[in-house]
Amino acid sequence: MSSDVNGSIGIGLLGAGVVGSEVARAILYPKVSSVGDSGLELRRVLVRDASKERPGIPTERITDDAESVLSDPDVAVVVEVIGGEEPARSHITSALSAGKHVVTANKEVIAKHGDELLRCASDNGVALSFEASVGGGIPVLAVLQDSLVANRIDTIRAIINGTTNYILTAMGETGASFTDSLAEAQRLGYAEADPTADVRAYDPVYKLCILARLAWGASINPDDVYREGIEEIESKDLRYARELGFKIKLLAIGTSGDDGIRCRAHPALVPMDVPMADVNGVLNAVEFNGDRVGPLWLQGRGAGAGPTASAVLGDVLRIARRIRAGDRSQAKLVAVGEREVATSPKVISTMDEMRIRYYVRLSALDRSGVLAKIATVFGDTQISIASVIQKDLDDARGIADVV
Ligand code: NAP
Ligand code: HSE
Repeated sequence: MSSDVNGSIGIGLLGAGVVGSEVARAILYPKVSSVGDSGLELRRVLVRDASKERPGIPTERITDDAESVLSDPDVAVVVEVIGGEEPARSHITSALSAGKHVVTANKEVIAKHGDELLRCASDNGVALSFEASVGGGIPVLAVLQDSLVANRIDTIRAIINGTTNYILTAMGETGASFTDSLAEAQRLGYAEADPTADVRAYDPVYKLCILARLAWGASINPDDVYREGIEEIESKDLRYARELGFKIKLLAIGTSGDDGIRCRAHPALVPMDVPMADVNGVLNAVEFNGDRVGPLWLQGRGAGAGPTASAVLGDVLRIARRIRAGDRSQAKLVAVGEREVATSPKVISTMDEMRIRYYVRLSALDRSGVLAKIATVFGDTQISIASVIQKDLDDARGIADVV
């Protein structure tokens, strides 16, 4: 590996989209970026379409040949910001196996293949850092992994998808449509290449699996996490919720108790008077409850080029500092990236035994006796009704919303 204690540190960038182009420019123009003269050298930039215009990135650094980046002996740190499972996973594995440190913003690949990739990093004595994979610019993993290491975490409660929070906020505050709000989130660079990962809550599930790995040493299969997206929510649900004193937020929740670990991500009614209700737009927030520290709250921009590049570059600069210090043991510490756990924790993936309150909206005929029938069906299935309101009567069809 070329990088030495005194020389510049070669960076191989995989991907130059929303995040990658911001990272590239920060490294290429250190004097005008807040990164400063960091001694990083952007060697090569891998993209899918090498003919595309990339303002600010010299064309001679652009390539569509992955091998030319991964086998460049002068690349010491590979930054993966392609996204998705493949070819990201293969490229990360190749880079680690070649003794290169890797920084990634890819939650899907870490959630699904974290065990194997962390082992590969550890075997090769290099770092695999992924701060940007959860919470965009919020340094949530560093806090969990380092600052809170003296705590037993019992709860994680978070808004960790900027796109859906942006959509729900826009629909609730301006009455914007779902489609328009999603299009705006895509224009702003918040959404995944395939936005169904955001809208259907795969993305916050991946992020919750990563948080659970660091908090509890648990290797959770994302398919085992209860998941519900926001695609069924209509503007009127946000209005009804507001009338009842709530906002609707897509929450990711993890708990660790005597019976095991439970993880779930779904839309939830959040009382107006708790801080989570005021986390709006692209903001994310993560609340941990630790046995010593008590509740701890982190909030910041969860998506977008600037905040995500902040987290990616933070990881790169930390690795660069260690390379310069000739400190391989520290590099290995980053690679391990997980808390010591006494036993392998049990993961409970079903919602069946959970007693929680639900919001239900029914379209019902506006006739006498209908409400009583609904109450009977609920009663027969052991569901207790806290409150019922009838809304938005459609006179022509004789149908009303029962909430
Ligand atoms: P993006 O805008 O879609 O950019 C992806 C880049 O990867 C593009 O430059 C694309 O090349 C390149 N690419 C795609 N497939 C490739 C392939 N098979 N081979 C080589 N290059 C390929 O994505 P992004 O928003 O920057 O996100 C990148 C990663 O960061 C994802 O893992 C995402 O989840 C994560 N992340 C994003 C944000 C955010 O706010 N955007 C925040 C946190 C984490 P072309 O340009 O030629 O198409
Ligand atoms: N699509 C993701 C989001 C990007 O909207 O939160 C940040 O991980």
